[in-house]
Amino acid sequence: MKEVFRVTTHITARAPSNIALIKYMGKVDPVLNIPENPSLSLTLQDLCTVVNLRLKSEGEGISLSGPGLSEAGRTRMIHYIQKSVPLITEVLNKFEFKVDLQRWESSQVEIESRNTFPASSGIASSASSFAAVTLAVAGALVQDLERFQLSLDNHDDYGRKLRRALARISRQGSGSSCRSFEGPWVYWEGEDAEALNEIQMPEMAHFVLLVDSSPKKVSSSLAHSMVRSSPLWNERVKRVEERVKVLKQALKSGDIPTVSRIAWSEAWEMHSLFHTCSEPFSYWTPGTIDVLRGLASFILQKSPPIVTLDAGPNVHVIVPASQRDEWRARLKELWPQFEILEDRPGLGARVVSSSDGA
Ligand code: DP6
Repeated sequence: MKEVFRVTTHITARAPSNIALIKYMGKVDPVLNIPENPSLSLTLQDLCTVVNLRLKSEGEGISLSGPGLSEAGRTRMIHYIQKSVPLITEVLNKFEFKVDLQRWESSQVEIESRNTFPASSGIASSASSFAAVTLAVAGALVQDLERFQLSLDNHDDYGRKLRRALARISRQGSGSSCRSFEGPWVYWEGEDAEALNEIQMPEMAHFVLLVDSSPKKVSSSLAHSMVRSSPLWNERVKRVEERVKVLKQALKSGDIPTVSRIAWSEAWEMHSLFHTCSEPFSYWTPGTIDVLRGLASFILQKSPPIVTLDAGPNVHVIVPASQRDEWRARLKELWPQFEILEDRPGLGARVVSSSDGA
């Protein structure tokens, strides 16, 4: 019979980054991270955060480590973990999982978080890290880890509801993380994010041109409140609602030129909000402007790329997978000075492995 006395429980959770075509910018509720307007994103596959969580029976407290993790980032994450444990416990109980809270409380919780993309790439993603940590903590709390893992992978109603309930908690850590629980095309409005059905888009390829890798001077959390002072903030919610309608229809009919135009308008509008608020700031570098100018000429073509930027200087280019090689070569030729990261659409965050050591 297996030894019951457990020294270490080890869980690995993996969550991808996501890139928004319609941006989450502005919060109605900055504590719960309820957005001012709906957003729509593409979940990625390989640009991920991988979290290893170990419960050690000697000791107590939470330690968090990882390459490129700043002191502020660590404090924010530990605060989130402490706040999320009772919320995750409640969700797990609701979904009829037994929770071993005592094991959690009497253990030393060692968390190691690393990204699959270079720490210095400037695309560090709070979305992927909060989603991965949420699942790792849930995995550490639950007793029947195997059933939990299987339920998360399930595409039935139960699996969807479970992921949604955990995504709601993750959202409180970082808003955009709730979109990383599903994929590939995800719509977030109010409290919940959900995968869109009946999409006719072809298989896509995703590139990021790494224009600049220095850490951000203005965090996206701060940007959410600063944009409200821009004169362009007026009527933004109305404009976004119209764009959402058009974009959803375009994704349903595989109308890439319309998807591309909406993404282009949204990226420019979000950065214009940054450029025109009462204390203007910019993430752009001369490289960003050069890339945007270069790509502008492709936007009017018959088969345009989908171009967008996060709250940062790097430019994301999404094209049909059938044009992957052609676009890789083009981007390399036009901007040989910038490194390119490459990815594809994915299905969202999961617990990938677990083991109990004796
Ligand atoms: C610019 O999710 O980082 O990437 O909720 O404060 O953690 P917090 O903000 P965060 O906002 C990201 C906004 C964005 C656009 C988007 O992904 O929709």
